[in-house]
Parts: sequence; structure tokens; C-alpha cells
Amino acid sequence: MFFSFRKKSSETPLQQDMHSHVLPGLDDGAATLDDSIRLIEKLASLGFKKLIATPHIMGDFFKNGPENIIPKLEEVRLAMQAKQIPVQLEAAAEYYLDEWFMQRLHKNEKLMSFGNNYVLFETSYINPSVYLSEAIFQLRSMGYIPVLAHPERYLYLHHSFSEYQKIKEQGVLFQLNTNSLSGYYNEGSKKIAEKLIQSKMIEFAGTDCHADKHTHALKKSIDTSYYHKLLDLPLLNHQL
Ligand SMILES: [Fe+2]
Repeated sequence: MFFSFRKKSSETPLQQDMHSHVLPGLDDGAATLDDSIRLIEKLASLGFKKLIATPHIMGDFFKNGPENIIPKLEEVRLAMQAKQIPVQLEAAAEYYLDEWFMQRLHKNEKLMSFGNNYVLFETSYINPSVYLSEAIFQLRSMGYIPVLAHPERYLYLHHSFSEYQKIKEQGVLFQLNTNSLSGYYNEGSKKIAEKLIQSKMIEFAGTDCHADKHTHALKKSIDTSYYHKLLDLPLLNHQL
């Protein structure tokens, strides 16, 4: 008789997530405390033990900062305690590279980082950011380690894979969205995600969970062969 110690296929062996929008009423993620708790419970059922919530910070739409993110974090933590959800919740942010962000950098403002001074950032999906190189330089000179959120989702990079290498050479770590692996976003992002994994260019995996549709998709994404290849990389999630 053989016993299998492999986890259930719908349960992730990755226990730390560092990209999600589970704090309520801050961005296009969870709208209410009930939404937050439901999403966190689903992520817990997928095997996550630690979540770092990363609300969008965007000058045009989401002028968030520690002043409203931290109180939301405390509110959700209290609700989690009441429900005895065995997950550790922290908060950082996902910064959009816009003029508003550049002003924060020029003023030397403390940013919402996670782990080893990592700062998660994103750009437009369509157009390259004119601020990219300057932002990377400024972040690094402030002692932060920049982490590009979902590099596989930027359409402007899809046809020039060498650009990924150039960004990496500037000292940027890459965070892949697990849901890219099942083609949840689009076929192009799936192909680039696979190529980035094959090229060992990924340091973090994230759920980028905003809503139920993302937790549902995760079950399928976790069953892909590339998810297992992703887990074979020396991901920094394990150090969080
Ligand atoms: Fe995100």
C-alpha cells in the first residue's frame, strides 16, 4: 500500500503571499469587511499562512497611505481574531509609477515596504513609464529594493523580452501573478510568465487577489505544470 504525502492539488505549498487587495474600501479590491474576511478565509483554505495586503496607491484614483491603510489593517486583524482565522496579516502597498509617486520619492517620504525593505510597484499595462529608470534609481538610493508587480502583464514588454533583462540589471526583482499561469488574464501574459519562470527571472509569486474570481482562478493556476516549476525557484516568499 502506498501513501501519498503530496498536498491536495487545490492547496498551495506556498504559505506566504505578498500581493493582494484584501483590505476593505481602499481600492478596487475588497469593498467591505465581509469581503475581506471571505477572501482571507479562501486564501487560508488554499494553504496561505501569511498575507501582505498591498492596496493600490495611485495619484489619480487611490490616494492611499499609511494614514488610512494601517487603520484598515487593524480593523481586519480584529475581525480575523474574532473568527480565529489562523493567518498573519500585514500591509504594504502597490505603488503606481506616476507623478504623485515621484513626488513622494523626491520628498524622501517613508514608503510602505515589506520584508527586507521591498517596495512593490507597477506601471500602466499599455505604455512604458517615463519614470521607470529614475524611480528605480531613487528607490535604491533610499535603501529600498524595488519589486516589479506582474511583469508578465505589461503588453509593451511582450515583444521585447530583452527589456526584462535590462530592468533586472537595474536591480529590480520580479513578482509573478500566479493566476497568469492558467491564462486567467490572457494568453500573452501566460506565455511570458512561462518564459520568465524558464529563465529563472522570478523572485516572488503573488496572488494579486482582489475578488472571488481571483481565488477561484487560483485553484486552476496552482494545478499547472509551470506553478510547480515556479515553486522550484528560490522564491523569496519563504523568507517573509
Ligand atoms: Fe495588484
